[in-house]
This record gives sequence, C-alpha cells and structure tokens, in this order.
Amino acid sequence: MPEQEPASAYAFFDLKPAFNDMLDEVLVGLRSERKFVAPKFFYDVRGSKLFEAITELPEYYLTRTEMQLFDRHLNEVRDLVGVGGCLVEYGSGSSLKIRKLLESLRPDAYLPVDISKDHLESTASALHRDYPWLHVYPTCADFTGPFELPPVVADHDKIGFFPGSSIGNFEPAAASRFLSNVAHTLGAGGHLLVGVDRKKDVGVLEAAYNDSAGITAEFNLNLLQHLNDLLPVRFELDRFRHRAFYNEELGCIQMFLESLTEQTIELGGEPIVLQPGEFIHTENSYKYDVEQFVDIAAAGGFAVHASWTDDREYFSLFLLVVEPN
Ligand SMILES: C[S@@+](CC[C@H](N)C(=O)[O-])C[C@H]1O[C@@H](n2cnc3c(N)ncnc32)[C@H](O)[C@@H]1O
Repeated sequence: MPEQEPASAYAFFDLKPAFNDMLDEVLVGLRSERKFVAPKFFYDVRGSKLFEAITELPEYYLTRTEMQLFDRHLNEVRDLVGVGGCLVEYGSGSSLKIRKLLESLRPDAYLPVDISKDHLESTASALHRDYPWLHVYPTCADFTGPFELPPVVADHDKIGFFPGSSIGNFEPAAASRFLSNVAHTLGAGGHLLVGVDRKKDVGVLEAAYNDSAGITAEFNLNLLQHLNDLLPVRFELDRFRHRAFYNEELGCIQMFLESLTEQTIELGGEPIVLQPGEFIHTENSYKYDVEQFVDIAAAGGFAVHASWTDDREYFSLFLLVVEPN
C-alpha cells in the first residue's frame, strides 16, 4: 500500500546563517588572551546526538526534571495560552521535548529554528510524518541575532519555546537582548515557555557536567572535530581534555578544553600557540534564582505570566508574556 501523504504543509526555510565569517569568528576567539570558541560549534550531527545522550545520563537532572514539569503543568499552560497558533522552538535539536507540547497544545504549525541544517531537516521531516495534522516550517537561522520568521506564519498567534536552560548559555545581558529579539518576533501578547536551571548544591551542578561515562567530555572534544571538518585546521583531539567547574562568583558552570601539551595549531595559515594547561573556554551555563531570571526577562520586554518548579527546586519553567510597548 502507498504511504499516506500528510494533509498539512511542510516547507524548509534557509536564512543562511553567516557561516562565511566563521574562520574570522574562530580566529578572534583563539587569538585572545583567554581563548574561547562559541558553543554553537558543538552542534554538528554527532554533537547533536551526543547532546541527546547527555540528556539521558543519571547525573544530568536537567532534562528529567524539566520533562516532569511538562507532565505536571502543560494542561495549565494550555489553559493560559489556548490551542492553535504557531509554536516556535529556538534551538530545536532532536525535537524530542516538543512532542509533549504538540500533543498538549495542539498548535496549527510548528516552526523549529536551528543552526544545524542537516539535523534540522531530518528531525523536522520525521516530525511531519509523525504528526500529519501539523504544518511544519523548519527554519535554519542563528538565533543569537535578530531574524524574521517566514511570512507563511504571519497570521498565526505565536508561542515561543526555549527549553533545556539554553537561556543560561548567554551572558545575562545577552540573554535579555535575545529575549528582546524573541519578543519582537512573537509580537505583543505572544507567549514564551522557557526552562531555567536554578542555583543549587555545587556538587550536584558539577556532577551534571562531569558524568562518569565521559559523554560530556566527548561532546566537548567533538567541538574540535567539528572545527576540523569546517575550517582549514587540524586539532589533535587526544592533546586536549574536558574540564568543567562551577564559578561561584558568576553563578555559572564553565566548560573548557585544556591543552595537555605545548602545541601550535595552524588555523587558516595563522599559528595559534597553546601552552600545557592552557584552557579554551567553550561554554557557560548560568544558573539563576527566580528573582534574577524575572529581572532578565523584564529587561527583554517580558512579564511572568506563570511559573512552576519541582519539589527540590532544581529547575523552573516560566511562561512569559510579551509586555505591550
Ligand atoms: C542543547 S540543544 C537543545 C535541543 C532541544 N531544544 C532540547 O532542549 O532538547 C541546542 C540546540 O540549539 C542549536 N543552536 C545552538 N546555538 C544556536 C544558534 N546560535 N542559533 C540557532 N540554533 C542554535 C543547536 O544546533 C542544538 O540543536
């Protein structure tokens, strides 16, 4: 029997995130006194799969806790935002969490935004097959800057979704700038459901980013492999190791790749010298108290419509609403 075609629409929108400046962007980070590479370079297909594996680790309480909050509170979210409209997910990855929202909120359209084009294409088309009633409009874009949603969703009410405490990967001021771009895209009265990891015992936090199976280490090192694939450079992965610590003063977990030897890496013909023990900073994951996050959201043009937390107060879900200008 021929497969039944979904009745709904599917269209891929490539806003062509500016990868041509990539060499310059990576060079700026590796030339600086405290070397860094932006966390968006974690996510090639292997990086996305490794992240998925991280979410299932016993030490990584974030995903499990957030999923429990969805199970407990999505009915309340639906009562507050209503059904229908267009669900816009920022950094959709494997589009796993969204399934709970699709089933509960029954939107007309789903618009996953991600920088990792191939992964986005395959997960969005699988989702379209699994939900034949849903219009699916995957959009390849870099959400760290402003961008316009495709006109096909212009007439829909918008609900943004930014789970997994990805908001914590921005510096606090940049988180407010990001939220202000999101507020512009969603429009007055639009909602954003956002997952935020809370401050807690340092041992619990550090264990979540230093798992005993070494998957987070593989994920961190894979960033160098991704750069090898994208750029004229050849990092030797066994000359680096994963490090992650909680920075009490900043209130964030910081991830680094530590050089194990003195080494010179040619990047686009330019020599980059690393000393033994020198760090390349790859990610910050800020942890917020409720009051801190409310201030960040307010600076981005959002008010808190509702919020929920788990019994241990490890993680919070915020339903934000765009304030009128
Ligand atoms: C940690 S995964 C989150 C996946 C999913 N939302 C979840 O919580 O399970 C982060 C996703 O964001 C995407 N991403 C990271 N930086 C991005 C950027 N600057 N612009 C667009 N997508 C980005 C990555 O490609 C990856 O798929």
